[in-house]
This record gives sequence, structure tokens and C-alpha cells, in this order.
Amino acid sequence: MQVQDHTAVRCRGLSKSFHTGDTVIRALRGIDLEVRAGELLMLVGPSGCGKTTLISVITGILNQDSGECRLFDQKWSDLPEGAKTFYRGRHIGFVFQAFNLIPALSAAENVAVPLLINRVPRREAFQRACAMLERVGLGMRLHDVPSQLSGGQQQRVAIARALVHEPKLVVCDEPTSALDADIGRDVMDLLRSLGRTGGRALIVVTHDSRIFHYADRIARMDDGRISEIVDSNVGGLGS
Ligand SMILES: Nc1ncnc2c1ncn2[C@@H]1O[C@H](COP(=O)(O)OP(=O)(O)OP(=O)(O)O)[C@@H](O)[C@H]1O
Ligand SMILES: [Mg+2]
Repeated sequence: MQVQDHTAVRCRGLSKSFHTGDTVIRALRGIDLEVRAGELLMLVGPSGCGKTTLISVITGILNQDSGECRLFDQKWSDLPEGAKTFYRGRHIGFVFQAFNLIPALSAAENVAVPLLINRVPRREAFQRACAMLERVGLGMRLHDVPSQLSGGQQQRVAIARALVHEPKLVVCDEPTSALDADIGRDVMDLLRSLGRTGGRALIVVTHDSRIFHYADRIARMDDGRISEIVDSNVGGLGS
């Protein structure tokens, strides 16, 4: 009988330092963390504690100095650099604070990008992009460029782009911090309802205590370490 592994991300003893001149910054100091398939894990902690560095290692953008990081069955260190880009493009979706949409492309074109990168034929890519935009409530704005959309709408486009290729992992770095409270809640509602299907894991980096209750678990980071992990409904960190 096959044993089902419900772990999406597994980090063991991750360390990462940055060297600038004579200074060494130890951004990650021995991180052990598991993210379960189907869960929304929030990563919180003070500015500079290593959150972005950790998600960069988890997504294979940065190489750790020591320790191990796996995404489902794949150990990043087993992949050559070129294959990492391909693997990331296939299996990971990203949402950023600043949306990072391509200004000259329409909403539909922006959302189609991950599919085109994955060699989905153009016609199918645009059909799927439009269907995804319908799901995030932007079926009427398919042909608008980002500057014609509000911040909340641009973040919806970014969410559609992060999900359209059905990645195994979605990583969001401060997805609500540029948005007012109501729009931030809409964005989290969407991420939670559309994002966690099919065993997909979500990691959301945030300072925004107004959205802590959307998490299944909250991992607090402090000075390069995970200092505690709590179930969000058990309290302690949430509001
Ligand atoms: N490319 C780099 N070169 C040098 N130092 C870096 C680099 N990237 C990050 N650092 C340092 O590593 C530490 C962790 O940075 P990181 O960006 O991971 O923090 P963070 O928790 O995401 O902070 P914030 O909440 O402000 O985004 C900081 O001291 C930062 O200055
Ligand atoms: Mg950061």
C-alpha cells in the first residue's frame, strides 16, 4: 500500500548568511519547518527577521548554506540551476505586496503568462486566464491594463496569475499590506477559498494582524529562527 505524504514543504536545519564587506548577516539560523499539503501557514515576525529569505530558499530562488529543503518529493539541491527555474514555474505561484504585474499587458495577458511559460497553447492559455479572472470577480475587466485597475483589483489579477497553472505551492509576501482593511479581507477570502484546493499549500508572509485568523497555523520568526508555531484558532498570536 502506498503511504500518502501530507507534507508540502519540509525544511531541516536551514542556514543562510549574507556577506556584505566585513559584515556577515545570519539571516537563517537553523530553520526546521513543515508546511502541510492543504494548509495556509502564515509566517510572521519583525522586519529583518528572515521571512523573505526563508521563502526565497523554500522556492529555490536562494540556495541555503546548510540544511535541506524539499517541496513535496523534490529536494531543491538535487536540481541543476536551469531545472530549478522550470520546476518553480511549473509548481509554484507567487503573490507580492507590489502586485508585480506587467504594466503593458492586459489582465488576461498577465494571467496567461505562467501558462505560456509552461508551453500551454496560446488559445487555451487565454481561455484559462479569462476563466480564472472570472473566478476572482474580474470577468468584466479582462482587457484592462494594470493602471486602469484599483489596488485591490490588481491584487486579484495577481492571485489569478498565481493560481492559473494549478501550482502545488502558493507563496505570498505581504499580500494585503498595500490594501485597506476591507480589500485585504477580500484578498484573503479569495486566497483561502481558491488557493487551498487539491492539497495545495499556501504560505503567507504578513505583518497584518487583521488577517491572522485566516491561517491554519502561524509560525513566528525571530532573528533567523522559528520561535513558535501555533494553531491560529488556539490564540496567542492572532487577534
Ligand atoms: N541580498 C542580501 N544581501 C545582504 N543582506 C541581506 C540580503 N537579503 C536580506 N538580507 C538581510 O538579511 C536579514 C533578513 O532579511 P529578510 O529580507 O529575509 O527579512 P524580512 O523578515 O523579510 O523583513 P521585512 O519584514 O522587512 O520584509 C536582514 O538583516 C536583511 O538586511
Ligand atoms: Mg520581507
